[in-house]
Amino acid sequence: MSLQKYREMFPILSEKVHLGNCSQSPQSVPVMRAMNEYLENWRIVGMDWDFWMTGVERAKASFARLIHADEDEIAMLSSVSDVTSMVASTLPFGERNHVITTVDEFPTVGHVWHAHQHRGHIELDFASADDKMYTPAVFEPLMRPTTALLSVHHVGYYNGAKQNLKQLAEFAHSNGAYLFVDAYQSLGTCNLNVKEQGIDFLASGNLKYLLGLPGVAFLYVKKELAEQLSPAMTGWFGRQNPFYFDSTHLDFGSGARRFNTGTPPVLAAFAARGGMDLLNEIGLDAIGARINELSEYAVEGVKSRGLNLASPEDVSQKGANTAIRVGDSHAVEVYLMARNIIASARGDVIRLAPHFFSLESEIDQALDAILEWAKH
Ligand SMILES: Cc1ncc(COP(=O)(O)O)c(C=O)c1O
Repeated sequence: MSLQKYREMFPILSEKVHLGNCSQSPQSVPVMRAMNEYLENWRIVGMDWDFWMTGVERAKASFARLIHADEDEIAMLSSVSDVTSMVASTLPFGERNHVITTVDEFPTVGHVWHAHQHRGHIELDFASADDKMYTPAVFEPLMRPTTALLSVHHVGYYNGAKQNLKQLAEFAHSNGAYLFVDAYQSLGTCNLNVKEQGIDFLASGNLKYLLGLPGVAFLYVKKELAEQLSPAMTGWFGRQNPFYFDSTHLDFGSGARRFNTGTPPVLAAFAARGGMDLLNEIGLDAIGARINELSEYAVEGVKSRGLNLASPEDVSQKGANTAIRVGDSHAVEVYLMARNIIASARGDVIRLAPHFFSLESEIDQALDAILEWAKH
């Protein structure tokens, strides 16, 4: 299918430049179609739990395909905050109760680890790297014999710095620890194979590059690990048979099922499947190559206009997001919005986050408008 045909699946692209995919991707026909399956079933059938549960399982299967995992390694929750809390609720691992994370995680991840430290469940250290590149050497001084988990993002939400996960997994494992990855800012932009990378736990929501809605998030837990863990955060969907209705006994579902909690976010799960199936159909290798082209174009465009680049220059070290230091980023976001350009402000940077459907001319439009703002 041609790029133009794909663009037509996103009606807003005929009116706006949408470079806000690091925050919320545009509405698309496949996602609306999948949501309508749920809405029509609700309208016509009235109540249909079997249909809902099939929808949830299909969304998990689409997510599993996206990261090269098995469906029974995936649990469905509502946000990355929930997913991190779920993983935290499985600690300590034997004698190991020490977590190392970074100051560059999306804050919610740090907040969860803090909360568990306050309750005395874990010990916590924050690593910090001036260039936001987290190599084993950054973590090495903090590693202890009791370290259970290294909690690291794949792509940073602020400037798009992309971490070498394979290297971090090898480092964690060689110290007897596991690797937990927040991949919310990378999934949908590259081909991430959890098996090849050696990832033990992975979290992602669905509304950024995965094209879906708020309200649903996924947790991957490596098969060999999942059944060794007993989460303290739980609910009836975490049981072997949620429909057995026995509140006097606690069992844990097989594989990653044990990490489910209550009634899943069914409508958001339908939407999620619609978006992820589109990405899987196009292919994540092709999408990754296109994102790198656009990234290179954006980095060059920032430099040639004399703007202040906050992202790594080397596209192999960055995700889709190209961040530009502007100071009052909210004012820039509003200025761009008034010109039908969607970009996303965080701290002192404005983030341009294209997706596979984006055009070089759209990046130029956004960069020209930012330059105009800087000069006005
Ligand atoms: C990397 C990353 N992790 C987590 C979150 C927030 O996750 P949630 O709101 O699903 O808890 C964001 C949101 O912007 C993010 O960019």
